[in-house]
Amino acid sequence: MTVVIDGKEAAASVIAAVTEAAASLERETGVQPGLAVVIVGNDPASHAYVNSKSKMAKQCGFNSIQHSLPEDAKQEELEKLVAELNADPAIHGILVQLPLPKHLNAEPVILSISPEKDVDGLHVVNAGKIATGDLDTGLISCTPAGAMLLVNRIHGRDLSGLNAVVIGRSNLFGKPMALLLLAANATVTMAHSKTRDLATICRTADILVAAVGRPQMVKADWVKPGATVIDVGINRVPAPDKGEGKTRLVGDVAYAEAVDIAGAITPVPGGVGPMTIAMLMANTLIAAYRAAG
Ligand code: GUN
Repeated sequence: MTVVIDGKEAAASVIAAVTEAAASLERETGVQPGLAVVIVGNDPASHAYVNSKSKMAKQCGFNSIQHSLPEDAKQEELEKLVAELNADPAIHGILVQLPLPKHLNAEPVILSISPEKDVDGLHVVNAGKIATGDLDTGLISCTPAGAMLLVNRIHGRDLSGLNAVVIGRSNLFGKPMALLLLAANATVTMAHSKTRDLATICRTADILVAAVGRPQMVKADWVKPGATVIDVGINRVPAPDKGEGKTRLVGDVAYAEAVDIAGAITPVPGGVGPMTIAMLMANTLIAAYRAAG
């Protein structure tokens, strides 16, 4: 029987542990973890994500602050806000929701965040620490950290002898995911849009991680029988069967057909998705602990 990996349950147990640790940090040191989430513009999906991050931070007992800048905000305005948050001792984590409106350049904004407060793990200092095998002193990008936690539930922490294939090479997910798998001793292949014969490469994977943003691209015959499949895609597609104009969320994996081939698989929704917010809370707690000394 295929194991359907329950990300909701895994995320809930991370949240419970974070909530308890936050309370004891505050009790013992007076430091309340603080998370500032910054959003620019009016994109409804981004607003929904940001609201759920702020709400979860409150639920964990954090000082939860949200800054909304208008669609036409200037680069300097955004960087000035980040500078203020960097200097604010009540704030331990800063997240600037991506993507930014087209006229803004994300890279200098990310580089302007103090690495100690970069709870997204996107600053070159944090990205570099993972790349050099230092998983202990920086902050690790939330979605790959959450996906790894699910992989560890199936395979334990040592992936020696296992082949892993990551499809997608973004800074936010694919690259750090591949590096975390490598640090856990997996033999890692990074595949992407220019890879030739992707299906054959995927079939070598004991752990197949899909993060391409293409609905149901990974077919059943791309999956090695018994493999662990981690689906990071969140794609909204039309669902005429639910009524006119209705939509549903699907992953990058053709779940209905792959579920019978895989040994373990994450569903969409309810797989990797809930882990991202949970790991954001964990990163904010870690940053607060370090600030408290
Ligand atoms: N947009 C979609 N996912 C993320 C994320 O994990 N962090 C940020 N900053 N923006 C995102």
